[in-house]
Amino acid sequence: MLLAAAGMLAVAAIANTSAGPPAGGREPGMSQSVDTSASTDGTRHQRQEWGAALATLERGRRIFRFDTFGDEAFWGGTLRLHEAIEGARFGGVGPGLTPAAALGVGLKVDADALSPATLDAIRRGRVNLNDPAVTLALLEANAVVGVSARRARDGGLQSVGIQCALCHSTVDNSVVPGVGRRLDGWPNRDLNVGAIIALAPDLSAVANLLQADQQTVRTVLASWGPGKFDAQLFLDGKAFRPDGKTAATLLPAAFGLAGVNLHTYTGWGGVAHWNAFVANLEMHGQGTFIDSRLNDAARFPVAARAGFAEVRNDPDLTTSKLPALQFYQLSLAAPKPPRGSFDAAAARAGKDVFNGAARCATCHVPPIFTEPGWNMHTAAEIGIDDFQSTRSPDERYRTTPLGGLFTRQKGGFYHDGRFPDLRAVVDHYNSFFSLSLSERQKRELIEYLKSL
Ligand code: HEC
Ligand code: HEC
Repeated sequence: MLLAAAGMLAVAAIANTSAGPPAGGREPGMSQSVDTSASTDGTRHQRQEWGAALATLERGRRIFRFDTFGDEAFWGGTLRLHEAIEGARFGGVGPGLTPAAALGVGLKVDADALSPATLDAIRRGRVNLNDPAVTLALLEANAVVGVSARRARDGGLQSVGIQCALCHSTVDNSVVPGVGRRLDGWPNRDLNVGAIIALAPDLSAVANLLQADQQTVRTVLASWGPGKFDAQLFLDGKAFRPDGKTAATLLPAAFGLAGVNLHTYTGWGGVAHWNAFVANLEMHGQGTFIDSRLNDAARFPVAARAGFAEVRNDPDLTTSKLPALQFYQLSLAAPKPPRGSFDAAAARAGKDVFNGAARCATCHVPPIFTEPGWNMHTAAEIGIDDFQSTRSPDERYRTTPLGGLFTRQKGGFYHDGRFPDLRAVVDHYNSFFSLSLSERQKRELIEYLKSL
């Protein structure tokens, strides 16, 4: 039965190979110019242009979902993570990663990569979720969102790599919890990145980078918890805030970014800057990354030591992918909340509160909900501490775009999730800006935020 299930999964194939148009957000004028019959050279030329743009979009989607930029050399080659996934039975170490354990650390399964028969078996509970061999079959089917691994001849794994989708996609749970269709750009707030990295049998490379011992690294990884990752740790080596809590930040939305100037919670740069940063410095892909601001031993001791200000690999597997990757990311509109998930009448009234009495729109300018222009603020301007802002070059917080807030309720709000819900966010602004909002205005404002 176990092997039958594994075998069944192994034959599954990726279904989603068609280059469809982007979901949602198509301008009426745009489809008109695509659909007009090519009766003149002008329109034919225009169709070619749109065709090329859609091909770039599709390429960007593939990169976002499936490209590892050659980071198997790190996750497999250096950390030997694949050995912990396959387990001793397949030549690795330990018990191996069961599908139940994989789902338990928040990994998601892409239903579109599996055959109808496999999905049916999963729905009926007839796939053994306690057998690591099933995990290997899922990996072989390319069904684990953001993780890819090649099978070795002995049935185990050759290596493992990660993709952008690991942290920046989730699934709609349409098959069973954790299994469904991909939702690109939605932060996976169930994902325990620290627990996943801690599976690796050999963390000496991370320990050496941080000039710490492996046990300390494991303690730090365990402190992150679900939905968080610390991108700055590998620059400044700070693992904990002065209050002793983890220095990790929440995984942010990677949709609704078009029109937004600076990205990340502390505004490190534009989308293209951060994409190159992450692909090279965090995922450990093989590419090129240049940012002389990291050549600052006082502020970024780890980065300065490691030479992160100028990383050059030959071959370069990242730079040629940046244009299409950025194009795809900018195409991801913020999703609309499900009907019935907020009180529409109260939300309409809340819009006036947001733009008026509560003065939210002075920074969160609709419809991009961040400043058109330089979207950065000091900690004092928003009434919080400056621990995280001072870990970045501009020492400021970036005004978070508010579209699709409903996708990131889990884990709380603000960069570290310090406000457990929207009520806490509104209460913070109400007291910090002395807004004197009535109970009713607060409620309407919250309904409006839920509607974005
Ligand atoms: C291990 C998890 C992880 C992976 C993998 C990852 N990211 Fe991120 N990403 C984060 C975190 C955490 C942040 C927030 C960092 C910060 O603000 O300091 C972030 C921020 C971003 C942002 C800024 C979003 C905003 O709020 O403006 C973009 C864009 C982004 N990532 C794109 C990518 C791309 C493209 C890839 C693949 C090349 C990728 N990420 C891979 C965790 C990840
Ligand atoms: C002075 C500029 C400014 C004003 C005014 C302002 N915000 Fe913000 N807002 C920010 C910044 C900067 C952040 C990012 C803080 C962080 O991540 O630590 C933020 C974050 C948020 C978040 C968290 C988003 C997330 O995904 O974590 C919400 C919600 C929010 N603001 C709502 C509001 C509301 C409602 C108002 C009006 C009562 C308001 N803001 C007024 C600058 C502002």
